[in-house]
Amino acid sequence: MGLSYLSGFGNEHVSEAVEGALPKGRNSPQQAPLGLYAEQISGTAFTQPRAVNRRTWLYRITPSAKHPPFRRVPDGLLRTAPFTNAVTGPNRLRWDPIALPDAPTDFVDGLFTIGGNGDALTHAGIGVHWYRADTSMTDRYFVNADGEFLIVPQLGDLHLHTELGRLRVAPGEIAVVPRGIRFRVEVTGPVRGYICENYGAPFTLPERGPIGSNGLANERDFLAPTAAYEEGARDVQVVQKFGGTLWAADYDHSPLDVVAWHGSHTPYKYDLANFMAIGTISHDHPDPSIFTVLTSPTDSPGLANADFVIFPPRWLVGENTFRPPWYHRNIMSEFMGLVRGVYDAKAEGFLPGGASLHNSFTSHGPDADTYARASTAELVPQKLDDTLAFMFESRWIIRLTEHAASSPTLQPDYDAVWNGLRPHFTRP
Ligand SMILES: [Fe+2]
Repeated sequence: MGLSYLSGFGNEHVSEAVEGALPKGRNSPQQAPLGLYAEQISGTAFTQPRAVNRRTWLYRITPSAKHPPFRRVPDGLLRTAPFTNAVTGPNRLRWDPIALPDAPTDFVDGLFTIGGNGDALTHAGIGVHWYRADTSMTDRYFVNADGEFLIVPQLGDLHLHTELGRLRVAPGEIAVVPRGIRFRVEVTGPVRGYICENYGAPFTLPERGPIGSNGLANERDFLAPTAAYEEGARDVQVVQKFGGTLWAADYDHSPLDVVAWHGSHTPYKYDLANFMAIGTISHDHPDPSIFTVLTSPTDSPGLANADFVIFPPRWLVGENTFRPPWYHRNIMSEFMGLVRGVYDAKAEGFLPGGASLHNSFTSHGPDADTYARASTAELVPQKLDDTLAFMFESRWIIRLTEHAASSPTLQPDYDAVWNGLRPHFTRP
C-alpha cells in the first residue's frame, strides 16, 4: 500500500488518522477529542526562537508517561561520544563494506559505531554508525534521547514505523528521526547503511547566500509522515538510548499509539535525486560545501557541528580544470560512504557499503590512477552517472571505537593509493 506524506521542511504539519481526533483552536482542551490524551514533545527548548523552535502535539491512546522502569541492557557495538578507548592517529583510514548479519539481527542489534566526536551529554558532536539487519522489529521499539538519527540506506528498503506515522526509505533516499521519537524498523531482506547520530542542533537546510531562493535541497521535497497508529494490548519492548547506554522497558501496549498530531518536531525523508547540484560553468570547482544537503549549525556562524554532503550524478564541464577533488587538507573532519557506483576521486577500493575517514588536516585527494587519468583527459563535457557518495563532515576529529580501529575490514594498505604519485617538476 502506498504511503502518503506531508511536503515541506520544518513546517507546522497537521495530520489525523481518524477524523476529529485533533482538537480545534487549542492544544490541550479539558478533554481531548475521542478520549485521547494530549501530550507535547519538545525538540528544542521552549524559548528558542521561532525559526528554530520544534515541538509537536500528540493525541494518543495512552500517555507515554505510563511505563515501568527501564533497566540496563547490553549496548552491543553501539557506542557514544566521548570516545576515549581507542587512540586515533593522523592516518587516513578506509574500511571494506561491513558484512551483513549471519544470524537474525534487527536494526538496533545491528548497529556498529565507527566513531564520533564531542560529547552526547553536552549536546555537541556526532556519532557515526553502520547499521545492518535482516529481521524486522515487530514487538520492539527504539528511541534516542542522545541525538537525532540521519539514516543513509545503502542496501535494501527500510520501513520506518514512527510515532508520527510511516516512512518508506530506499537507497538513494535519506531519513531523519528526531530525538525522542519512538520508532521501529521493518525490513523485507538484508539491509545495510550509515547513520550520522547528531548530538547537536537539529539538522536544517543550509543558507543559500548568492545562490538565491532556489537550489540545493528544496524545502518541498522533504516529506513527513501522516498519522498512523498501533492499537491494542500486547507485550512489547522499548529500547532507549540515554546518556550513551541502552535501556529497555516492557510495555503492555505499542508506544506508536498516536492517532493525530500537529507540529514541527517530525521525522522526514528526502530523495537525494531531487538535490539540485550546482557547480562551475567556467573553471575550477567550488568547495564541496556547495553539495550540502543538511547542516547542524553551531553558535559560530558558518561552523557546522555536522554537514551532510552528497556527491550525486552531475555534469563536469570546467575548462582547463582538474575536475576531481583537488588535493587538500582541511580543519574539518570527513567521514565518507558510498551508496552506489564509483566516487570520482578514487578509482578503486572505495566500495558501496564501505567507508573512509580523513580526519582534520590529514592529506588526501585523488589516488594516483585518478590523477593520471584526470590530468590528461580531454575536457569535453562529461556526465558522472550512477554514482552517489556522501560525507558526514564535522568540526572536530572523529575518534574511533575500539572495534572500528581493530576491524578486519580496515584496509591495511590504504596509503598505497597515493604511492604512484611521482614528481613532475621540471625547471624551465
Ligand atoms: Fe576531503
